[in-house]
Amino acid sequence: MNLLIPCAAGVEASVKRQLKALGYGDCPAINGRISLAGSFYDVARLNVFLRAGERVLIELGAFPVSTFEELYDCARSLPWEEFLSAHSLIRMDGKSRQSKLGAIKAAGGVVKKAVVDRLKEKLGVRSLDERGERAVVGVSIYNDVASFTLDTSGDGLHKRGYRTLAYEAPLKETVAAAMIESSVYRAGKPFADLFCGSGTIPIEAALYALNIAPNAGRDFDFTKWKCAPDVLPEVRREAEETRDRATKLRLFASDLSENAVSIARYHAKRAGVEKHILFSCADMRKFSSDEKYGVIISNPPYGERLKEDDLFSLYRDFGKLYRSLPAWSCYFLSGYAGAARAFGGKAEKRRKLSNANIPCGFYGYLGAKPPKYK
Ligand SMILES: C[S@@+](CC[C@H](N)C(=O)[O-])C[C@H]1O[C@@H](n2cnc3c(N)ncnc32)[C@H](O)[C@@H]1O
Repeated sequence: MNLLIPCAAGVEASVKRQLKALGYGDCPAINGRISLAGSFYDVARLNVFLRAGERVLIELGAFPVSTFEELYDCARSLPWEEFLSAHSLIRMDGKSRQSKLGAIKAAGGVVKKAVVDRLKEKLGVRSLDERGERAVVGVSIYNDVASFTLDTSGDGLHKRGYRTLAYEAPLKETVAAAMIESSVYRAGKPFADLFCGSGTIPIEAALYALNIAPNAGRDFDFTKWKCAPDVLPEVRREAEETRDRATKLRLFASDLSENAVSIARYHAKRAGVEKHILFSCADMRKFSSDEKYGVIISNPPYGERLKEDDLFSLYRDFGKLYRSLPAWSCYFLSGYAGAARAFGGKAEKRRKLSNANIPCGFYGYLGAKPPKYK
């Protein structure tokens, strides 16, 4: 099967590196989706292990289209009956960019009709009751080429299951994972998130450093499809065997808000990593450390609740604090346009990253490297 992994803007490189580490080689990215060949076993592995990908899709086909008739014919020509049943609850998802068929809602309706007509003919039924397993059919039209997919994940892969309490402006887990993966943080280094909010960054850092598969505990839509072999238990066993149970991390996480810290602590407990994170309620300006070569990864505030002057001084003080630490590196994600100017110094890494469709800058400041040990 051809598998596609959609990614948020700016995180493709991180997903590609993880795919390589999982043994899938160099996978090409086209229009924000990484493509690779795989079986249902790979579908299960990718859903369980991927940290920064949004979901795992099976692409049934892709064709040039310029009219709704062509769209219907192409969708109807695909073997939907190999995946769906007469009871499938068919939901549509669609996108169109730079294409003649820009009316995506109408396009979704046409594709759904084609899928239903095909299923009725091939399964020999007069109607579909749609009372069974969910199947999200996708149609993405880019430059007049329509790609038809089935979503194996169901809920987006950022929904790990540990973040159950609401908190203002939480970072998407997949974006936090990409920030950590592309930083110099590795198990054993001191780590701090000084604006931890609901705890996403330190929790994702712990999952990453301990090689814990982020989605080993949740379910996925494909497991209810009758065509899919029962491969999830084997993949969960692999996740159990490859996680690091020996290392004890020393992650530090703090926030000005007491409520945020207690929510973060609760989420860390749910994720099973609370003993690796020391939480504290404190102003970022109070942080200090005698340890060298640590890494700060944070998502400071940038919403409308802070005035421009306050934002500027917050980022200016954050920059001053960072430069007072011995050989630390610092990474932060912010949608505040003046963030890098206020922080000061020169960012060695600077990238556009979107968090829940808000365009943000991801900035990296690198401290001195530790000496090499023999
Ligand atoms: C964008 S939110 C962080 C969201 C977090 N990454 C998450 O996933 O939930 C920014 C956080 O900075 C905290 N904050 C604001 N000013 C602070 C300060 N001076 N020191 C420490 N934390 C502060 C806020 O309480 C808020 O929780």
